[in-house]
Amino acid sequence: MAAQLTKGQRDEIKKQALDDFSRYVNPQKARVLKNAGLDIIEGKREGAAVWDITGKKYIDCITSAGSFNVGRRNPEIIDALKKALDEYDLGVFLLCSKPKADLAKRLAEITPGDLQYVMYGSGGGEANDFAIKLARGYTMKNDVISTLKAYHGHTGFSLAAIGRDEYRKPFGSMVPGYKHVPYNNLAAMEEAVTEDTAAIIIELVQGEGGIHLATDDYVKGLRKLCDDHEVLLIFDEIQTGFGRTGKMFCCDYSGVVPDILTIAKSLGGALYPISATVYREELGDFVMTHAFTHLSTFGGSDIGCMVGLAVIDFIVKNKLPEHAAKMGERFQKGFDELLTRYPELLMEVRRKGLMMGLQYTNDSIGPRMSYQLAQNGVMAIYTGNEPSVMRLMPSLVIQEDEVDFVVDALDKSMSEIMKQGGIEKY
Ligand SMILES: Cc1ncc(COP(=O)(O)O)c(C=O)c1O
Repeated sequence: MAAQLTKGQRDEIKKQALDDFSRYVNPQKARVLKNAGLDIIEGKREGAAVWDITGKKYIDCITSAGSFNVGRRNPEIIDALKKALDEYDLGVFLLCSKPKADLAKRLAEITPGDLQYVMYGSGGGEANDFAIKLARGYTMKNDVISTLKAYHGHTGFSLAAIGRDEYRKPFGSMVPGYKHVPYNNLAAMEEAVTEDTAAIIIELVQGEGGIHLATDDYVKGLRKLCDDHEVLLIFDEIQTGFGRTGKMFCCDYSGVVPDILTIAKSLGGALYPISATVYREELGDFVMTHAFTHLSTFGGSDIGCMVGLAVIDFIVKNKLPEHAAKMGERFQKGFDELLTRYPELLMEVRRKGLMMGLQYTNDSIGPRMSYQLAQNGVMAIYTGNEPSVMRLMPSLVIQEDEVDFVVDALDKSMSEIMKQGGIEKY
């Protein structure tokens, strides 16, 4: 539709949308986005790119933190959604259905080890809520251990697991029984485990926390710790799942199988919300005897399941995990050069596949780089729990020339910041 409009009309739609957003949704958010050069009204979306309604093209490196692994408006997923709409609706959530059964079977096939049963939801926080409820219910123990700077969602049980005070404090008492320990520190986790620990919940790469990678030894150590103390191990692969890190799931690197795996975001192909909590067979004992462990009207809808099936087919058929690993290496070559050229700005790069974090030398560089990158045609933003880290998570369908474009934009943006006086200016 926007393509048929004149430039003046498109400018006017943008202005009105920004004004109304500011007036009726959140003026502070609108201001922050403007300052970061991200006062964009998304128009056309395709592959790894998005166009502002006024016509400017960007490579999307935000992707709602890894929700667009199959690309923006992927035609094959749109096709699957249209076919689903011809035949299905949400479905009655209390009933069994073929799409629910088909997707659960497929998830059991692609998830590691003996993970078998699926509880559906509609978002990541909900998937983690159920994981924690299941762990508490099954073990009949109370405590949950998560890590500092962790992000697990803004719903009740998940919010309590977030490892950042600012997210929890405004809401008063949280669900009790949570401890937060330093990440990648097995000794701290060992010390925190007690007879009343039901579960450890962990991201294998902390996303909001600033792209911190769990070491294989840490992950293996967690598995042993859990086995020794009858604690359930929950992997939150809501950002890392579906090929993002160069394997279908990040836990495929260490070979460690959790008791419970949570997935969301890209499962919905960025077109339809759906999430899932996948768990080992014996944990089913609790669910079978507690019929109302979790109910979710929109969770695992028939349409969502059809989309999920198409997403998995697309990822497997196009070998997206392998492609992500390859494109990640191409990025890395560019990052290595930037590290030598701009040591005043860029301190370190942490990366697994296309889950990439640029550690700047100073908190102020995050927003300034967002602004410069937007001018240079790249949408990117610093992480919520660590503003000195810029997270780059493009769609996994990104191509070589687009990778080079992003690296070039980073180069130009850093050069511009240096010309403006580098970090001295702030
Ligand atoms: C690791 C992780 N867990 C959970 C969530 C929550 O997912 P949702 O926003 O769908 O509730 C997110 C969202 O960013 C996430 O990154």
